Amino acid sequence: MIKKNPKELVQTFFNNTANSYDKIVYWTTFGKDVFWKQKILEHLSNEKTVLELACGTGILTRKIAEKIPKAKITGVDITKNYLEKAKEKLILYRNVSFVNQDAEKLDLERKFDCIAASYLPKYCIADVLVKNCIEHLNVGGKIILHDFTYPKNKLVQKMWNFYFKLLYLVGLFIPNWKQVFIYLPHVIRNSSWVREYESAMRHYGLKTSRQDLTFGSSTIIVGIKIV
Ligand SMILES: C[S@@+](CC[C@H](N)C(=O)[O-])C[C@H]1O[C@@H](n2cnc3c(N)ncnc32)[C@H](O)[C@@H]1O
Repeated sequence: MIKKNPKELVQTFFNNTANSYDKIVYWTTFGKDVFWKQKILEHLSNEKTVLELACGTGILTRKIAEKIPKAKITGVDITKNYLEKAKEKLILYRNVSFVNQDAEKLDLERKFDCIAASYLPKYCIADVLVKNCIEHLNVGGKIILHDFTYPKNKLVQKMWNFYFKLLYLVGLFIPNWKQVFIYLPHVIRNSSWVREYESAMRHYGLKTSRQDLTFGSSTIIVGIKIV
């Protein structure tokens, strides 16, 4: 169970969960998802073009479109059901378009001022994703990556582990989410995505910064392409 490659879990997690995703992400993070996305938005100002990888049902996409209405925004996701939800949600936003692609095989033939992704890093290989992002990023542009992290504080770890045990029980009553609640804690605990992405960003010459949020249960890293 624990040895599964996170990428192999993407289909299991997301093929049948698009309809309930927005509610589940809100309630299971106690609304912190809203706060974390707000923190992502603080890194955006007046970019002309924004690419959102793993846009899912478009929660962050809509917030970006509302914060910078003049920007051209492209949402990419590997899961068609999630993209359909995003398209429905943002149907009135003429400056937003969506593409069904794997972020690890990204090929959009244009560059952006900013590339953002929430809850994607742990499913991808850092070197591959960062290289793809850099190829799609204008000079001076930034990459903003956000995802869950396993807290370092021992007491917080105990509470975190207990919470996922509770979620496992909840999952018994929500069949579509059962696999997520079983595997997700293992993926997060075993992931060293922050270290790997920071190291990949630095390797490709980006200037990096990092922000730990909510007792270390999620992290944002930003990489700026200076040349
Ligand atoms: C937990 S959801 C997050 C959705 C959205 N970013 C949000 O914050 O609400 C994770 C999303 O990542 C997408 N995803 C996972 N691996 C991907 C990949 N390699 N390329 C593109 N999308 C991917 C899934 O399809 C899913 O929609």
